[in-house]
Parts: sequence; structure tokens; C-alpha cells
Amino acid sequence: MSSDLPACGVRICGTGSYVPERRMTNEDFARTLDTSDEWIVQRTGIRERRICDPSREGTFEMARTALERALDSARMKGSDLDLIIVGTVTGEMTCPSVAARVGAAVGAVPAAAFDVSAACCGFMYGLNIAQGLIRAGMFRTIAVIGAENMSSIVDYDDRSVSILFGDAAGAAILQRDRDPRIGCLYQSMGADGSGWHSLYLPRKPRDVPPFDADNPIRLGNIRMNGKEVFRFAVTKFREVLEEAMKRTDLTADSVGQIICHQSNLRIIDAARERLGLPQEKVYINIDKYGNTSAGSVGLCLDELWRAGKIERERPFVMVAFGGGLTWASSVWRV
Ligand code: COA
Repeated sequence: MSSDLPACGVRICGTGSYVPERRMTNEDFARTLDTSDEWIVQRTGIRERRICDPSREGTFEMARTALERALDSARMKGSDLDLIIVGTVTGEMTCPSVAARVGAAVGAVPAAAFDVSAACCGFMYGLNIAQGLIRAGMFRTIAVIGAENMSSIVDYDDRSVSILFGDAAGAAILQRDRDPRIGCLYQSMGADGSGWHSLYLPRKPRDVPPFDADNPIRLGNIRMNGKEVFRFAVTKFREVLEEAMKRTDLTADSVGQIICHQSNLRIIDAARERLGLPQEKVYINIDKYGNTSAGSVGLCLDELWRAGKIERERPFVMVAFGGGLTWASSVWRV
């Protein structure tokens, strides 16, 4: 995408998020699995995560609440929305989309609605698509939500996967603005499906590749090769972030906050150190929530937005990578 100034701008009008009340600490895992708080903190930076109570909440409820909070913060009603995009791989059903149900729940009918399946990049793919549609003049006001009920697809007997993930939703409302200087300055999205088996969610026996056939795999649960994903992520994070900053002439001094998908503190730190970025500019909340997949970037954005840490005029950067394999970046000025 060229970074030429668009004819109209895109304003972030409000943000919202939701995390379940239920906490699951590293000690909770150590009670049932051969693991420890020390191992988990050292390898991932995670101390606790939030887990849905399946009797009363899941992806739909989290997405709806995050959107209601974003609408409140934007002082808007559901009926102001023209389109709702939900990034998720844990929708209750493939049909209908989570987005359509959320739209009806907040009074947004007949706003268009669809889900995006890009794993941990779901929110960022949604955000990039949304701002492009606004700039193209097709929609005026769009809600983008990332919502993920990871606890519903994690095998809690698998210590190398279960300790990583938590549940959350984050939302942002975008609107066409007359000031062409504000909005997305640069975006990138990519995928390499040849690496799909590093991180996948098999539903049927034939989804399991031959080299995994002898491993204990529960259908409906995430299967991950941690080392492969780690290698991919360390390189990709740095590349994608570096390219986004280069294309927008941002330096460690001039850039505002950097929001990385919260996958693993070591992966984020490696990219930060390689690019010489100061610690205070790279937002971290993985210690409290773990990896919430598509929920993560929206949740970080909402926390920073509400804390007043997204500065006017100083561009901020979002980056993510995830299953697919997928990656994305987005640089914004507000
Ligand atoms: N507690 C204690 N030991 C554990 C463990 C746990 N929770 N999970 C795995 N181990 C063990 C392994 O079984 C292995 O034991 P072995 O040497 O006897 O076989 C040992 O620890 C080392 O495992 P390894 O996989 O090499 O650890 P690691 O340093 O690569 O860390 C991850 C594991 C999962 C934390 C790391 O690979 C990772 O973060 N990968 C990226 C995952 C990710 O980001 N996924 C989401 C993408 S959006």
C-alpha cells in the first residue's frame, strides 16, 4: 500500500474490551500438570490468564460486551454502525457469524456483518480491511472486534500449549473523517499457508497431517509445534515491525506506542532489542492475560486508549502474527 495521504481520514472514535472474571494462575496449572510458575514466567512472561465460565460466557458474549463498551466510549449507538467485523477462530458456530449475532444484540441491524479467520491476526486483519473500506467510500462507521475463547479449544492436559492461552475481546469503532491526515498511514498483511501445521485446530481425523498421526491429539483442540512457531515469530515480528516503521519514516524516538500481539514476552523482547526500542514504548500485558489470540491487540489498544497513552499526532504501530501462518501491521495517527 502506498503511504500517500488519503482523500479522507479515518478516526478511531472509541474502544472497548472484556476479560472474564475468572483468573487462572500458573500455580493453578502446577496443581494438575508437571510445570511451575518459574518455568512459565521464564519461558513466556505469563503469570495468569482469564478464563470464560462456559455456563454463561463465550466468544459471542465477550464480543458483545467489548462492542457495547466501545460504543459507550464513542458515545454512539449500535444503529450508528454500517458494518461489524469480528476476528475470531472460536466463534460458537460457523453459521451464523459472531458478527451477525453481535450486530443484532446491539441494535445494529441492518449493518453488514462478517467474521475474519486469521487466528491471532484476526483483529488486525479486520482493522486493515475496515479502514480500507472507509477510505474507499463504501462504509462510514465500522466496528472491529477481536474475540477469542481460547479455553474452549485448549487441551488442559497439554502443558506446552495450555499455559499460553487466555480469553478476551477487544473492540474499536472507526469512522470516516474529513481530516485526511488522521487514520492508517501504512498497513501490511501476509500469509504463508505452507506453515499451517505449526499451529492448527483439527476437527476431523483427516485434518491431522501424517507426521502428527502417532502423537496424542484431541480433535477440536489446538495442536502447536512451539519451537517452529517461536522461530517464525521471532523473525517475522522484527521484519514486519521494521518495515512498518521504515515505510512511515518512524524512529525509536518519533514513534508512539507499539502494540505487539501478546504471544510470548521473549518474542516481543527479541524484536524490541533488535530494533533498539525503549521498553516503555512497547506495551505489555501478557503477564495478566496470556496469549488471547485475536483478542490481544484490541485489548492492548483499549487499555492504552483509556489510559490516555495514545498520543495525538505521534503515530503508533500495531503488529501481529499467528496461525495460518499469518502476519499483519498497521500504523495509525489519531
Ligand atoms: N512446564 C514445564 N516444562 C514444559 C512445559 C511446561 N509448561 N511445556 C513444555 N515443557 C518442556 C518440554 O516438554 C520440553 O521438555 P523435554 O526437553 O524433556 O522434551 C522442555 O520443556 C523444553 O521445551 P521447548 O518446547 O523446547 O520449550 P521452549 O523454550 O521452546 O518453550 C514455548 C516452549 C511453547 C513457551 C515456546 O516454544 C513458545 O512460546 N513458542 C511460541 C508459541 C506461540 O507464540 N504460539 C502462539 C502463536 S500466536
